[in-house]
This record gives sequence, C-alpha cells and structure tokens, in this order.
Amino acid sequence: MKVDVLLGLQWGDEGKGKIVDVLTPEYDVIARFQGGPNAGHTLEFDGIKHVLHTIPSGIFHENVMNVVGNGVVIDPVIFQQEIEKLKPFGIDFRQRMIISNKAHLILPTHRLLDAASEQAKGKNKIGSTLKGIGPTYMDKTGRNGLRVGDIFTSRFKEKYDQLVEKHLGILKHHPEFEFDLSTLEPAFFEGIELLRTLNCRDTELYLNDLLKQGKKVLAEGAQGTLLDIDFGSYPFVTSSNTITAGTCTGLGVAPTKIKSVIGIFKAYCTRVGSGPFPTELLDETGETICRVGNEFGSTTGRARRSGWIDLPALKYAVMINGVTELSMMKADVLSVFDTIRVCTQYEIDGKLFDYMPFDLDAAEIKPVYKDVPGWNCDLTGLKSMEDAPKELKDYVAYLEKELEVPITVVSVGPDRTQTLVNKH
Ligand code: GDP
Ligand code: IMO
Ligand code: MG
Repeated sequence: MKVDVLLGLQWGDEGKGKIVDVLTPEYDVIARFQGGPNAGHTLEFDGIKHVLHTIPSGIFHENVMNVVGNGVVIDPVIFQQEIEKLKPFGIDFRQRMIISNKAHLILPTHRLLDAASEQAKGKNKIGSTLKGIGPTYMDKTGRNGLRVGDIFTSRFKEKYDQLVEKHLGILKHHPEFEFDLSTLEPAFFEGIELLRTLNCRDTELYLNDLLKQGKKVLAEGAQGTLLDIDFGSYPFVTSSNTITAGTCTGLGVAPTKIKSVIGIFKAYCTRVGSGPFPTELLDETGETICRVGNEFGSTTGRARRSGWIDLPALKYAVMINGVTELSMMKADVLSVFDTIRVCTQYEIDGKLFDYMPFDLDAAEIKPVYKDVPGWNCDLTGLKSMEDAPKELKDYVAYLEKELEVPITVVSVGPDRTQTLVNKH
C-alpha cells in the first residue's frame, strides 16, 4: 500500500485537522511529518471543539495508530498539556500513538531564543508563534540538537546542559532580553519523564513495515505551502518543508510510496503573522471575512489577516506538491457576499504575472480580480453537493478548471458532519 498526503496550500489554518479527522476511518495510520506546536489543528464533533498541536488528528478514532514522525519538533511541555486535555475523553494515547526516536526536542532555551530573535528584529519580525520552532530546526541542521532517543541514554542531562550553555552564550548578545530559565525547566523535565513512558521508536521502520503489510497511511501536514522554508514567502516562513517532499524526509518513506496528494485550501485566503499577502483586504470586507470565518489563530489567538482567494499562489502550490485532489474549506463563510472576487493574476509595474515574483515583499503587487456571483444563502445545513446553489457549483467548477485538479470535498462548517463530497 501507499501513503496519501494531506497538506495546506496557503498560509496554514486551511482546516487540515478537520479533514484529517473526517478521512481517518479510511486509514490505519495518521502520521505528522513536520512542524511542531506552532500548528493548531481544530477538530469539531459532538458539539466539542478540540485543538491539537503536536498529536496527529487521527487520535480520536479507535484502531488507528498516530505517528509523530522524525521531521516533527516536540516541546515536552506542550505535549504533556495536550495529553492531559485528552484524558477526560478516555483516549488511550499510549496505545494509539508512537513517537519517532529521531524527532528533535524543543528546549526551554529554544523558546527564549525565538523570543529574543523576534524582539531584536523589531518591525521586521517574522511573527513567529514563539514556540521555539526556528531555533530547534537550526540546531537540527547545525547538528547540535537533542532528539527523543537521547532521553533514554545516560548522557541526556550532560547533552542538555551543553546545549543550554551554548544557548545562554547566544542570549548574552541580547542584553535587552530578560528571562528566568529556572522557572521553565521543571515543566520541561516533567514532560521528558512523561515522554519516557510513551512508545518511542524508529517510526520509519514501523511505517515501512506496515506499508509492506498493505496498511494505509495518511501523512498530515502542518502549516501550509506558502510557509515552506524553500518555496514559501521567505523569510516570512516557518523552518520546515511543509510540502509533499517533506513527507519523505519527515517520515522516512520513499517518493515512490506516495499516492494521492490532497491539497486543502480555503474558499478565500488568510495569513497570521508578518509577510506579504497580495490579496489581503485591509477594509470592511476583510474584517467581515475575519469575523464570519472566526479567523483567530488556534495556537496564539491572534486575528488572522484575510483576503480573497489567490489563484497564482494556489497554482504554484498545486505544482510544487503534485496535488491530485483538492478540498475547499469554509465555503459557508462567503455566504455573506453578493459578489466574490478571485485573484487571477498579479500586476507588477504595469506587467501581468501568473506566478509569485522572487521578492514578493519588495514588489508592488496589484491583484487582478475576476468577479463571480456569490450564493448568498446559508450553506451550513447542506447535506449534498447536488443540493448546492448553482453559484457555489459554478465557483467550484471554475476553480477546478483553473487549477486543473478536481475538488473532491467542499466544507460548509467546522463540524465533522458539515463535509460534502463533490462527485465527478
Ligand atoms: P488547520 O491548522 O489547517 O487544522 O486549521 P485551523 O484549525 O487552525 O483553522 C481552521 C478553523 O476553521 C478552525 O476553527 C475550524 O474549526 C474551522 N473550520 C474548518 N472548516 C470549516 C468550514 O468549512 N467552515 C467554517 N465556518 N469553519 C471551518
Ligand atoms: P497550522 O498547522 C498558520 C506562521 C506564524 C509565522 C510563521 C513562522 O495550524 O496551519 P513559526 O512559529 O513557525 O516560527 O512561525 O509561520 N505559522 C502558522 N500560520 N498556521 C500554522 O500552522 C502556522 N505555523 C506557523 O504565524 O508567521
Ligand atoms: Mg491551524
């Protein structure tokens, strides 16, 4: 059997958690391959909203294994908090989850470095979630990092102290940044104790073994393609490969093992944190999308910047990921508009472009819009795409034609049940 991948095509928060949860019954394993607690994946069912940061979104289903892959970075403090939140629901997380020995650990000093770096950048800050993501991946590629497997060795504390020493040396260059490490360490070591009791192993061997047995794996992306370290709006990106290729390095599965790539996008566009956003609406319409879409960060609570859908960016994301099918989210949010705008091209210095320029930040980009009729009616109770208003069907068909990939799922509300299959 092969691996299917589900990932975001915009700047994150597309609704990945919801769709992974909906698709989980079709799989044996759900595996996160990159990112860490910067992610906030929301699942809603039975009137309850759950937000997951590191734990894969298949955790609420019985008989499904959830893998935290080697490409993920784990903060033991946040991980412990997530597990505590699952306890009232009787989730057997010990049976349902395995963690890669090769996943890197976020230390309290990584979080401090993240905050110090952002403070020093001032108005040029990335708008990081301040979870220590950048510094942890820097230590990974710098070959200084601590991995989950290290916590089972006798030299763990020694290695920890060495790395902290290095971090404190860097923090000396930020005299304006104040911190008290001693208040952060107890929770970290408590989290490490919990991790020691969980099922930690070489998950790449486990996954390849399951694939050989014919089991089905869904890889769950975090963030989105436009936040990818290589192909996103650099430097306003995260520090991992959020794209399909990240599945191979972040789980240890070969490219030949990948089958479907499900790209997920909102019927409009949002971004949280700093950086370019060509279709951003700084007016009442943007505020309306934010309010109706409840666009507030699942991890940080920050208001998300909102705007119309951006086809040049989406086409690029479809290409980079080799997307084979699409899920369109939050169609219900656009119900408030008589007319919906779609950015079809960018105008830069009087010339038209179909793709994002190298320096998206410096370029004066004017989005070129096509106006399409809105559906202007409540979609949240819709049970089938056949009963959908003509304008919604036309919007979906238009996007399919432009993106050259079928939209197989249309989401009309946050709940598991508000998910429509679009048959072709
Ligand atoms: P993720 O990071 O990609 O998993 O997405 P988030 O959970 O950060 O953000 C998506 C938000 O939209 C969450 O609050 C979801 O509950 C909500 N959501 C998902 N799909 C829909 C939808 O179709 N309609 C509406 N109104 N909300 C949705
Ligand atoms: P999910 O998985 C939206 C953004 C941050 C910031 C930039 C870098 O829920 O879609 P980082 O903390 O990674 O150093 O921040 O990336 N960012 C996200 N935006 N959704 C996410 O995850 C994000 N994870 C990081 O806001 O602009
Ligand atoms: Mg999110």
